[in-house]
Amino acid sequence: MDLDLDGCECAKLFQKEYKSKKEHTLSYPYNLITMAPSLETKIANISLDTCVYNASGPRTGSSQALSKVASSAAGAVLAKSATLASQTGNPLPRTWHHDAEESHASMNSEGLPNMGIDYYVSKDTIDETMSTTVSAKPYFVSISGKNIDDNIAMLERIHARIKAGEKRISGVELNLACPNIIGKPIIAYDFEQLESVLQAVSQLSIFAEDKLPLGVKMPPYFDGPHYDRAAAVLNKYSHVVKYVASINTIGNCLMVDPIAEMPVIRSKGGFAGLSGRAVKFTALANVKKMRELLVDEIDVVGAGGVFSGEGMCVDYYS
Ligand code: DHB
Repeated sequence: MDLDLDGCECAKLFQKEYKSKKEHTLSYPYNLITMAPSLETKIANISLDTCVYNASGPRTGSSQALSKVASSAAGAVLAKSATLASQTGNPLPRTWHHDAEESHASMNSEGLPNMGIDYYVSKDTIDETMSTTVSAKPYFVSISGKNIDDNIAMLERIHARIKAGEKRISGVELNLACPNIIGKPIIAYDFEQLESVLQAVSQLSIFAEDKLPLGVKMPPYFDGPHYDRAAAVLNKYSHVVKYVASINTIGNCLMVDPIAEMPVIRSKGGFAGLSGRAVKFTALANVKKMRELLVDEIDVVGAGGVFSGEGMCVDYYS
């Protein structure tokens, strides 16, 4: 069928189709009267001027690095996944970038080098991080404890800072998807463990009573039953889990340097998390599936392989 519509009719048709297909919490990205793009959104009911911001990963470990995110047009600042105590991480080399002109991929196995949770919630760090920002933006911390006890201890420290008057911590992202811890599996691939972590943290007063928004960073899934099981567990805790960030890197990938005849990454026999353009398709499928399966109370934050505005829009429409 040929349609001969003017811009306004076209926009209305698109809006009608869009609304009939969507039931998610993100707002429509265009003001249909002026057609001016708006990238404003809400995550966990927190307003962001733009829906684009950094993932927790390399270059988010210090206030200097974070202040670069804060001074950019990013809608929020998300700190490096913290452990209870500071640690130096895996041996070098631990990051790799495909060096072709159109870089397709990166890999990392940093092994959570970070300054320890106290650093990321301290007044000085948040002051330094936010000193460069021109407009207020939310600051999120990320935690990736070695075990449940460490996660609980970190959440108690975050809560203590908030109770002491620190108002700038907007939420906590619980990273259940790090593939780079030597000797430890990816937590959210073990559905019993996923449930027990959420069960334990959901009872803490930081979430249960004081209602700090909790986000969960998820690994990529590759098969229908796995999506179903992960979403079923997350939905059970929708009273505290307010957003899901999908995806973390694709874990345990390998690249070999053909000249050196050895893996490009040193730890774990070269096995590392894959990111960059190469993961876009997996990321997109995960965002789509999570949005379909999660209850409306849980927002979905798309991560992975976004290089351009077009890439971001694809995430948005999925
Ligand atoms: C690291 C890697 C991740 O994918 C992540 O989510 C957190 C930390 C790391 O290796 O440091």
